[in-house]
Amino acid sequence: MPITTYVFDAYGTLFDVNAAAQAAAAEPEHAVLRDIWPKLAFDWRRKQLEYTWLRAVADRHCDFWAVTEDGLDWALAAQGLDDPATRTRLLELYRELAAYPEVPAMLAALKAAGKQTAILSNGSPAMLAAAVASAGIGQQLDALLSVESVGVFKPHAKVYDMVEVHFGCARGEVLFVSSNGWDAAGAAGYGFQTAWVNRAGDPVDNLYARPQHILPDLTTIPEIT
Ligand code: LAC
Repeated sequence: MPITTYVFDAYGTLFDVNAAAQAAAAEPEHAVLRDIWPKLAFDWRRKQLEYTWLRAVADRHCDFWAVTEDGLDWALAAQGLDDPATRTRLLELYRELAAYPEVPAMLAALKAAGKQTAILSNGSPAMLAAAVASAGIGQQLDALLSVESVGVFKPHAKVYDMVEVHFGCARGEVLFVSSNGWDAAGAAGYGFQTAWVNRAGDPVDNLYARPQHILPDLTTIPEIT
């Protein structure tokens, strides 16, 4: 079935989740992060995601900004850091994460080809709006779909259902794109065509479904039709 609708995960896929810690570490006021930012960024992301999965299983939803703060607090504590100014700066930078360099041209190519485009993310509506605005890609996205509409995190099927509800399209005509292996597996199991963006060269996740496409970055997405 030809693909009509290209749906992107946000954090880690369009936006570089390591960029906040990396940028803060380059600022003189936060020099304490200079050597530890990669570990801080890794722990922050890992805890943020773990908390989403655990809250989904336990039916204890809260929004992704709260989970992002909770994950950061764990990561800072793991480094023995307790500086409110650094915490505030990291969160400020997380609201304005950089998009990967190929994102604007890739989205523009999809729109030029007459395709529908959207973000489908754990991110709250305010987080998604801020990230999209700071990356300047709002014109190339037809919808910003947040899990806040259904009150549960990925990979719950209610989240993937939002695409059909919004666009009225069949699962098979959707290409879902994620750099998170577990999200690509969730979407593939749901029935979307899926592309896993594997920037780190990781092994494929051993879950209930596998992505049809594995790509090093987002450049060739418009070639998947
Ligand atoms: C998102 C997380 C999974 O944007 O990165 O949904």
